[in-house]
Amino acid sequence: MFKPSLLLALMLTVGAVHAQSTKPAEPAAASSATTAAKQTFQQPALPYASNALEPVIDMATMELHYGKHHKAYYDNLNKEAADNSKLAAQSLPQLMKSISRYPAVVRNNAGGAWNHDFFWATMAPAEQRGEPSAALLKRIETDFGSLDKMKEAFNTAGTKQFGSGWAWVIVKGGKLVVSSTPNQDNPLMDVAEVKGTPILGNDVWEHAYYLKYNNRRGDYLKEWWKVVNWNEVNKRFDEAVKK
Ligand SMILES: [Fe+2]
Repeated sequence: MFKPSLLLALMLTVGAVHAQSTKPAEPAAASSATTAAKQTFQQPALPYASNALEPVIDMATMELHYGKHHKAYYDNLNKEAADNSKLAAQSLPQLMKSISRYPAVVRNNAGGAWNHDFFWATMAPAEQRGEPSAALLKRIETDFGSLDKMKEAFNTAGTKQFGSGWAWVIVKGGKLVVSSTPNQDNPLMDVAEVKGTPILGNDVWEHAYYLKYNNRRGDYLKEWWKVVNWNEVNKRFDEAVKK
């Protein structure tokens, strides 16, 4: 039998150990200062479970990528917006169009926020992926020769992007074009070398693939096509060619 005082001491000890063990699991960016700041820009929920894209994208990568990296872009952007009403009044797509007017910290974090919103929606669980539409396939065949050729050009752009960045398929003047951007830039930005409306994009930062694929970026790029949400890409293509 424990004496009541001994039992209380034991409970307090267990409580302290539990508090210590759960603390590191909290998102690094979720400091009290951050959560107290006005959340002008809201990180959307991941549109599927974190293991929904296994085995192409493993759950550990997805949890870190969404819960730490993407969250940090939003938290850092909100820190900037807290003292800048002009910035806070903009939507992310509006910001992209005039990003050259803002400092690098806004460019990097607003880009990171938008790019990942777009990226999560570019992928889907198996039963929701669909196929390229007839209209999109026709355009792909005209501009690249075949879907395989487009994938090859995209994978080459992703592999050749030095350091961190993104590979894209964009609609530019009604045609499909493959491009890449460094860091968290994207083709909507007024600073982009190749501008257009993205319909597909893959994250080639090491944080997107390193846990599972290590240094084999090319393997990640090839595997990634298996999880593409063609239903969403078809919709984006239809909207982009109407513009
Ligand atoms: Fe990322």
